[in-house]
Amino acid sequence: MKTFYIETFGCQMNAHDSEKVVGTLLTRGYEQVETPEDAELVLYNTCSIRDKAEQKVFNRLQNFKRHAGKGKVFGVLGCVAQQEGEKIFDRAPHVSLVVGSASYNQLPQLLVQIENGDKRVTGLSLDTEDTFETPMTSRDNPHRAFLTIIEGCNKACSYCVVPFTRGPERSRTAASVIAEAKQLVAAGYLEIMLLGQNVNSYRDPSPDGLNFAQLLEKLGEVQGLRRVRFTTSHPRDFTKEIIDAIDANPVLCNHIHLPVQSGSTEVLTKMQRMYTRDQYLRRIEWMKNAKRKMSITSDIIVGFPGETEQDLEQTLSLQDEVQFDSVFTFKYSKRPNTPALALEDHMSEDEKTRRLTMVMEKQRTIQLRINAEYLGTVEEVLVEGFNKATGQWISRTTQHKTLNFNHTVPDANLAGTFMNVMVTRAGPHSLVGESVV
Ligand code: 5AD
Ligand code: SF4
Repeated sequence: MKTFYIETFGCQMNAHDSEKVVGTLLTRGYEQVETPEDAELVLYNTCSIRDKAEQKVFNRLQNFKRHAGKGKVFGVLGCVAQQEGEKIFDRAPHVSLVVGSASYNQLPQLLVQIENGDKRVTGLSLDTEDTFETPMTSRDNPHRAFLTIIEGCNKACSYCVVPFTRGPERSRTAASVIAEAKQLVAAGYLEIMLLGQNVNSYRDPSPDGLNFAQLLEKLGEVQGLRRVRFTTSHPRDFTKEIIDAIDANPVLCNHIHLPVQSGSTEVLTKMQRMYTRDQYLRRIEWMKNAKRKMSITSDIIVGFPGETEQDLEQTLSLQDEVQFDSVFTFKYSKRPNTPALALEDHMSEDEKTRRLTMVMEKQRTIQLRINAEYLGTVEEVLVEGFNKATGQWISRTTQHKTLNFNHTVPDANLAGTFMNVMVTRAGPHSLVGESVV
């Protein structure tokens, strides 16, 4: 029996790629083990979105260097593999396999080469036409399944490494997406999270040519499917039709993650985001006018080259105006090959930290206020699991808020069920409540 270990860094696309890699290995007769020590094949599925993420894999490889050659094979997958390519063999000579995120469909052949004892095997093509579909995907969560609808990215945000690591956009046919959704429901999944670097630019390659909103409508009709979510959206491609589809069908969750990156049109222009502050706010207005209360979340980068104090003020005022339910905040990080490297006025880390703190503090106050609005309301939640330390069940509302709740019936197994929960406490990052039976 051949054994493997895999550790995953980065986004949900990467998490899902790992699920597919695991499925591919299991069908080839490999057994998954819990530690790198126990494995013959050690895989790292890597992220290069920021420098810190990239460093992690090289730290891991350094830690296990001493095991190299003792029957252990090391593989680097994902975005760092694509970005660094064969240079990885120079930095970490004990690595045998380097496979970029756009080349996973070659994985079975590459594994054969490894099994035959090849010491340096690569899959780094970016121009692959195919999407990564496998006969078997080993999913981590028993209730919520990831489902890729589009791979790659055709945008050119000046800070972003993703177009280089994941290649150009490839949409799956709507028929194959719907067929997979039906299979997932038949296998007991209640919720599907649609994935893509930019799901809004989805376009069915078959003659039907469905756009993203039309695909959502179709998925909302799949019998037995209770929740559909999606990530990530891009403001430039986000349409009012998407909100209309959500309005028309409660299976489509009332949560939109719409990364804004900055509240300043000048900075957005330098970022090559292709929208202005006002255009972003127009999309927010659509959401605010929706029939159900939308939760709106975002990503913000501080310290982009040339960001002035006024630009930062614009981001803070945008936070006030939108009232985001939550925001991921990042300090700008220089990435190889990206156009922003050539810009002037790169900022010190200390100054980036100061700006990050301002954005985060503002956001904390907003979240406390927003979450307090839920006190006393009853929310329908999908239960994810039990937290032994707190004695509470962990669940999510349709708006993707975490709601931890007490349930008086002992020994009940609520995981994977829908419950009604009354909110009794509200913090900045989660809600607490009591089940309503
Ligand atoms: N530096 C900092 N943050 C970045 N992101 C993407 N590239 C960079 C970078 N070079 C952030 C963006 C994106 C999120 C996934 O990561 O906010 O939306
Ligand atoms: Fe990281 Fe981006 Fe690659 Fe996801 S797509 S793993 S966030 S670099």
